Amino acid sequence: MLTGELPFSAIDPLELVHCHIAKIAPAPRSLQPEIPEAISAIVMKLLAKTAEDRYQSADGLRFDLETCLAQLQASGNISDFTAGNADRAGQLLIPQKLYGRETEVAALLAAFNRVSGVENKTDSHAGVELILVSGYSGIGKSCLVNEVQKPIVRQRGYFISGKFDQFKRNIPYASLIQAFQSLIRQLLTESAASIQTWKQKLLAALGTNGKVVTDVIPEVELIIGKQPEVPQLAPTESQNRFNRVFKQFISVFTAKKHPLVVFLDDLQWADSASLKLIELLVTDSESKYLLLIGAYRDNEFSATHPLIQTIENIQKTGAGLSEKISNIVLNPLDLSHVEQLISETLESKNSEKIQLLAELLFNKTQGNPFFLTQLIRTLYQENLLVYDFPSGAWQWDLGHIQAIGITDCNVVELIARNIRKLPLSAQSALKLAACIGNRFNLEVLAIVSEKSQKETALSLWDALQAGLVLPLSNDYKIPLVFEGSETGLSGLQDVRVGYRFLSQKSTAAVCNVVRHPAKEPNLRSNCQFNKKCEKWRPPVPK
Ligand SMILES: Nc1ncnc2c1ncn2[C@@H]1O[C@H](COP(=O)(O)OP(=O)(O)OP(=O)(O)O)[C@@H](O)[C@H]1O
Ligand SMILES: [Mg+2]
Repeated sequence: MLTGELPFSAIDPLELVHCHIAKIAPAPRSLQPEIPEAISAIVMKLLAKTAEDRYQSADGLRFDLETCLAQLQASGNISDFTAGNADRAGQLLIPQKLYGRETEVAALLAAFNRVSGVENKTDSHAGVELILVSGYSGIGKSCLVNEVQKPIVRQRGYFISGKFDQFKRNIPYASLIQAFQSLIRQLLTESAASIQTWKQKLLAALGTNGKVVTDVIPEVELIIGKQPEVPQLAPTESQNRFNRVFKQFISVFTAKKHPLVVFLDDLQWADSASLKLIELLVTDSESKYLLLIGAYRDNEFSATHPLIQTIENIQKTGAGLSEKISNIVLNPLDLSHVEQLISETLESKNSEKIQLLAELLFNKTQGNPFFLTQLIRTLYQENLLVYDFPSGAWQWDLGHIQAIGITDCNVVELIARNIRKLPLSAQSALKLAACIGNRFNLEVLAIVSEKSQKETALSLWDALQAGLVLPLSNDYKIPLVFEGSETGLSGLQDVRVGYRFLSQKSTAAVCNVVRHPAKEPNLRSNCQFNKKCEKWRPPVPK
């Protein structure tokens, strides 16, 4: 509104996504010199790429706008001032950035450059690689891989991800399908002409076997239309056909112009069919421009795990294949990184005091970042970390923190303790949500809770505020403000409000609280392979 133009002008959606993720919009003042510097700075602060650089409270923004107004009324001018001065005070914000992972980020990006053929500038060097990221739960595997998404999109790569679920191991290819569903949704936002090109490419690659793919990823039909039936085969041949056709399907999306990165999280819960497909992709001499990244917990992994077999199979298949697999082992943060995280969170340079707190939290958490951030949040919630307005600094009493025994819980106890502080309605919503899985949507949760979606969303609100559950998109606000009937979101049927647990450990903690494991088979997707129609079908309800 101030400049009379949009922040970015991009021709294709991928470029626009790239702008949103990676490009800084021009400052309003650089487009309209009459806009005061202070106003321009406020807009730029609102547009900052990293969440913690933006305003953290409406009060902080109001303070700045009122300062502008007061100056304008008093002198007819707005002088420069630092935007966001009154904004942060008193809010505990743990920076989103990763500490101590520079080498690992560089290794992932180097692999991306290798498979893209960027390093050698010749196609003959482009290829396929599998990088495994392993480490203890909460050590930062998922965060690390997601960190490279931005630079990869910046280089016009497609980055897609899927997550294996502990309780859905009986659904083959679940995580791969999840990843490609999101890719198809991305493609569907492209121009009609580009969708037409995808259609031609997909039809050429899939031939008469399109249905093999559309059966598992129905979204593909939106691009290539309904597909003819495929002949019925025996189970083994059927799986072979699936793998062959899926490989052709993937080859459509791997090109020099747009290499593909597929991140498969929580491989410790992968099904054997997915592992077989990964093996085929990595050993295929024709695969190019493809980087597979897999993360797994090494603490839930034995020497007999099928993934070990997959790795051995790949290495056995041929010379040079061992170079196609590498492993990044994530270690805990060291004391200096813990200290850096704490001093940046508390915005304090008082190094001796910070050092003592860092040592206490480091010893307690052994440098596990998930545990560490949970512990810092709990200290804040329990008023053991308090912002002192007069001095403008965070205060804590080390003796007090030690005395209260909070640092003696393990991570699951710590989260369980936070869950117990929630209202009973929130605890009960979490209990049912944990039975559905790591991700769940409001519609299903409302059905199993036997409540309206609005009521269910309200029950979840406290868990959201406590950071135990995260919304998958901003849609979660709709049922909270929707004034419609109590029974449902009539008129908003298309809105799918999704949530996920902060971590698998939150799900574990819910189980701890309710004292029975998250085992409710009828709530889980228990698909079975129906040989007759060659489809994965949910069981017939009893
Ligand atoms: N290097 C880091 N610096 C700061 N914080 C980090 C770092 N790595 C992870 N974290 C924090 O720890 C939390 C847990 O990280 P993440 O979910 O990536 O762990 P994980 O290894 O994938 O765990 P899981 O095995 O449960 O999937 C993140 O939400 C983030 O806040
Ligand atoms: Mg993870």
